[in-house]
Amino acid sequence: MTDELNFLLDGVEIPFHKGQTIMQAATAAGAYIPHLCFHPDLAPHGSCRLCIVDVNGKTVSSCTQPAEDRQEVHSNIPELQQARLRLIQLLFAEGNHFCPSCEVSGNCQLQALAYDLGMTHYHYAPFSAVRAQDGSHPELFIDRDRCILCDLCGRASCSSDNKNVYGLSGRGEQTHLIFRSNSGNLADTAASVNDHAAHICPVGCILPKQGNYMQTIGNRLYDNAPIHKVGNHRMDDSTSANKGHTNE
Ligand code: SF4
Ligand code: SF4
Ligand code: FES
Repeated sequence: MTDELNFLLDGVEIPFHKGQTIMQAATAAGAYIPHLCFHPDLAPHGSCRLCIVDVNGKTVSSCTQPAEDRQEVHSNIPELQQARLRLIQLLFAEGNHFCPSCEVSGNCQLQALAYDLGMTHYHYAPFSAVRAQDGSHPELFIDRDRCILCDLCGRASCSSDNKNVYGLSGRGEQTHLIFRSNSGNLADTAASVNDHAAHICPVGCILPKQGNYMQTIGNRLYDNAPIHKVGNHRMDDSTSANKGHTNE
């Protein structure tokens, strides 16, 4: 008789302890469930919906769903992969993602998931949104057109940096990234290039001006292995704990 709790993820036994979500337990065990707004160091946000899994015929967000003993969880099934592909295509349509001109191309989690899910075309007509850029800060550049509204920067700013620099404002289509200063400019906040928040963005929205993404093609994070093998990382995020995924 053992007290160990575990569930099955696509047939693989995942141990967990009480209070962990399916995503937290899977990540700790080195199993990969697609995601963009989850980071193992931060509270779940539950906004991107990429981490959906099937539990007893019900679709739930694995980053917010508590793990339960002997639960059967399915992630890598065609219906869910297709739903994820549509979500990714929607993000591409919403945000003016033109990868060939982007500094984080090859190191980008959104792009890597698009490759992983077999995205070959936009599917949705681009919204062609134009959101204000911010180059006011001496060390950081912001391209809001690439923001996917995951609030990783906002959560990292509060809980890792003990600041309150980044946030989201507005509703629905009007939701956008803000900086908490009277002027609304990043330069007038307490933001520093050394903040965790400045190195957690999964796409090319928050960029150090000195350039952390100077790798040549072939040496970039996702050049030689897909994201379900490499995991969600940013090359300059030294605190990231979700390493060593083992999925084939
Ligand atoms: S942020 Fe990622 S998906 Fe968007 S343009 Fe840059 S590389 Fe492409
Ligand atoms: S700036 Fe980056 S980390 Fe912040 S909400 Fe947008 S995509 Fe997420
Ligand atoms: S990772 Fe679960 S909703 Fe984004």
